[in-house]
Amino acid sequence: MSPSVTTNGTGTGNANGVKKSHLGFGTRAIHVGSAPSKDTGAVIPAISLSTTYKQDAIGVHKGFEYSRSGNPNRDAFEATLASLESGGAHGLAFSSGSATTATVLQSLGPAAHIVSVNDVYGGTFRYMNRVAAENQGLETTFLDLETADDETIVASIRDNTKLIWIESPTNPTLRLIDIARIAGLAHSHPSHPLVLVDNTFLSPFYSSPLLLGADIVLHSLTKYVNGHSDVIMGALILPEHHAAVAEKLRFLQNAIGAVPSPYDCWLAQRGAKTLHLRMKAHGTNALAIAKFLERSPHVEDVIYPGLASHPRNDLAYTSLSPHARKFIDSLLLKESEDGGFPYGGMISFRIRGGEKEAEKFLTSTRIFTLAESLGGVESLAEHPARMTHGSIPEAERAILGIGGNLIRLSVGVEDVDDLIRDVEQALEIAVQ
Ligand SMILES: Cc1ncc(COP(=O)(O)O)c(C=O)c1O
Repeated sequence: MSPSVTTNGTGTGNANGVKKSHLGFGTRAIHVGSAPSKDTGAVIPAISLSTTYKQDAIGVHKGFEYSRSGNPNRDAFEATLASLESGGAHGLAFSSGSATTATVLQSLGPAAHIVSVNDVYGGTFRYMNRVAAENQGLETTFLDLETADDETIVASIRDNTKLIWIESPTNPTLRLIDIARIAGLAHSHPSHPLVLVDNTFLSPFYSSPLLLGADIVLHSLTKYVNGHSDVIMGALILPEHHAAVAEKLRFLQNAIGAVPSPYDCWLAQRGAKTLHLRMKAHGTNALAIAKFLERSPHVEDVIYPGLASHPRNDLAYTSLSPHARKFIDSLLLKESEDGGFPYGGMISFRIRGGEKEAEKFLTSTRIFTLAESLGGVESLAEHPARMTHGSIPEAERAILGIGGNLIRLSVGVEDVDDLIRDVEQALEIAVQ
């Protein structure tokens, strides 16, 4: 038996005995799954690299047998994850976000059907279309879940529809999906598909999909949760009432074996302890930069869901996690003149001109680094059309709004004045 099953708390306690239900987000991030050692008193968990564990008699052990099935660091970090994702009770860690996706889709079995948001992360699209479709006969209906009306969504659900896959905001055009609406439609349908939300872009700080009715949350922990661009890892979090689904996924976690190392779990747990601090800083920095870009004559269009100009700015606010809402309300920004508020660290914008100007901007920044990925403390910038979304045919990219002048920023937690100056000088060089 995996010890994680017993220690991933149900809202009443977990690995370190800290009760989680009444604690704030930051307290949970720091203390749940991270108790001082009973053996040594060490305040920080030791890294337990052993792959196997002594048994006092056959089958008599301290909760661990073999490290793929469970180990102290993964167990502790899974407890942290289950606690951080509000409404969560079962946390499962994997060796990457992509391995997490593969495990979920494999769990659906042969000849299943799913409905997916149309501009899902490229690697997820690839796994659905090129791996699961070919190897297990998975059929996927890609739908624009932002604009599709209720009838269209309901009509897309078949007898064998097992899952609705949501990513919100979408990448890179940051469109917002109404998770509560989709969950309502799914749960009142006779086929009862589960609703999965890839919450990578907002992290458990800004969005709590389980509280909006989702059944499963997925993260590429590689991004904000670890937050330091030095670990590849993924996770699933499920609510208490989905113990049977969690158990099936945990069986596959062990059977497939795409598990993270104890060292990576330890690193990511360390990263997660500052998630609330980092996400507040990512959000306030991104809001300031988005506002600066909106005022710039060198910019055609800025996409940031926290800006009042974003078409779904109201949904962004009403679907905030309780802890993000508390933070944002304390800033008194929503009621201010321009109504903007922090909403994660991702911004996309269209520079005036075309691909030439975009490339010039991307090679002229001094603090923003030209690189793929996102969610680390350092600011990154990239060109979706030729980098992260380069494998999408140009015609489809055009439909999705991914043109040559689109730039995506992952705003880090450096001093905001330096970031704004950096963007300003790069725009001056790029747009003559
Ligand atoms: C939204 C989203 N989901 C899943 C993944 C896959 O995660 P990983 O790179 O950890 O395999 C990514 C990676 O960029 C992503 O952006």
